Amino acid sequence: GFPLEVDLAPMAAGQVIKVFWRGQPIFINHRTPQEIESAQTADWQSFRDPQPDSARVKPGHEQWLVVSAICTHLGCIPTEHQGNYEGWFCQCHGSQYDSSGRARLGPAPLNLALVPYEFLSDSKIRIG
Ligand code: FES
Repeated sequence: GFPLEVDLAPMAAGQVIKVFWRGQPIFINHRTPQEIESAQTADWQSFRDPQPDSARVKPGHEQWLVVSAICTHLGCIPTEHQGNYEGWFCQCHGSQYDSSGRARLGPAPLNLALVPYEFLSDSKIRIG
């Protein structure tokens, strides 16, 4: 497949964008300090798909979350900055994801999927 380079410099803290890679929607979230803190301090071991935030972001780049935008229930695209967990709310059947993209409420069985990417610089990533 073809990698996709994304310039993160224009993104303000608190902004979420959607990009397409291999025809698949991907969320990029420039997390606020508050969103990072709640992602890191949540009691992840009790979650249905237990993953620490540190397994879902790159070390030294904790303000950036890059995940699939496809709800793990039946494939709708959740809405950002909605729900109870500073993350996403899926309008289809009410699943909620937190600021780490982890499934927290509703029928979604799994966290929003991680996608392969790397930092080319502090403000540029390559997906794929
Ligand atoms: Fe998202 Fe069902 S597709 S909750």
